[in-house]
Amino acid sequence: MTVVIGLTGSIGMGKTLVTAQFAALGAKTCNADDIVHGLLAQGGAAVAEVGAQFPGVVKDGAVDRQALGKIVFADGEKRKLLEGIIHPKVIAAEEAFVARAKAEGVKFVVLDIPLLFETGGDKRFDKTVVVSAPHFIQRKRVLRREGMTEEKFARILASQMPDKEKRQRADFVVQTGFGRGYSLWQVRRIVGLVCHPERM
Ligand SMILES: Nc1ncnc2c1ncn2[C@@H]1O[C@H](COP(=O)(O)OP(=O)(O)OP(=O)(O)O)[C@@H](O)[C@H]1O
Ligand SMILES: [Mg+2]
Repeated sequence: MTVVIGLTGSIGMGKTLVTAQFAALGAKTCNADDIVHGLLAQGGAAVAEVGAQFPGVVKDGAVDRQALGKIVFADGEKRKLLEGIIHPKVIAAEEAFVARAKAEGVKFVVLDIPLLFETGGDKRFDKTVVVSAPHFIQRKRVLRREGMTEEKFARILASQMPDKEKRQRADFVVQTGFGRGYSLWQVRRIVGLVCHPERM
């Protein structure tokens, strides 16, 4: 049996790093942001539809994500329109990924999905993992990124479910504020619990 784990957490909490730690312990992993990038890249399955709804954003066969971002950022209705195009395709890609892993007999898979709870996607998973860190650490990590400002950070946070609520909904929480070794230790424990419950 393949255990299907949905992993989430707010911006900069350590989703990418913790997903890689699961991969190091044998998980097959996939990332919702990468799926979206693929859908909008040259030859991607959403390029034609997005181009039809948002004239001018397709350049050289790919969606100019910055141009698209500017449009949807300024207009909630347009954002909904875009989500309506993208969301079902992301889910289909995730389901195909899980089906492939099951066919291959992989023991456990981890899908890194930034808006897992916001989009109600948690019901699709056997277990959910939330990565978390104290707010001051999250803030320090995110503000280090190029192009990030206090205002942008505040806006992103306001668009996401609060960390506390995510933690309350999760089956497991991985703390990333105390170094990589400690988060790896927690990931090992989760893998043990979901893959070998009889040993616990
Ligand atoms: N367990 C950890 N110990 C120490 N540093 C960590 C840990 N987890 C993440 N970090 C650091 O925090 C930063 C953000 O991590 P990461 O990119 O994994 O977050 P993310 O949740 O994937 O962010 P995003 O929301 O942008 O996708 C990185 O610089 C990473 O090195
Ligand atoms: Mg990430």
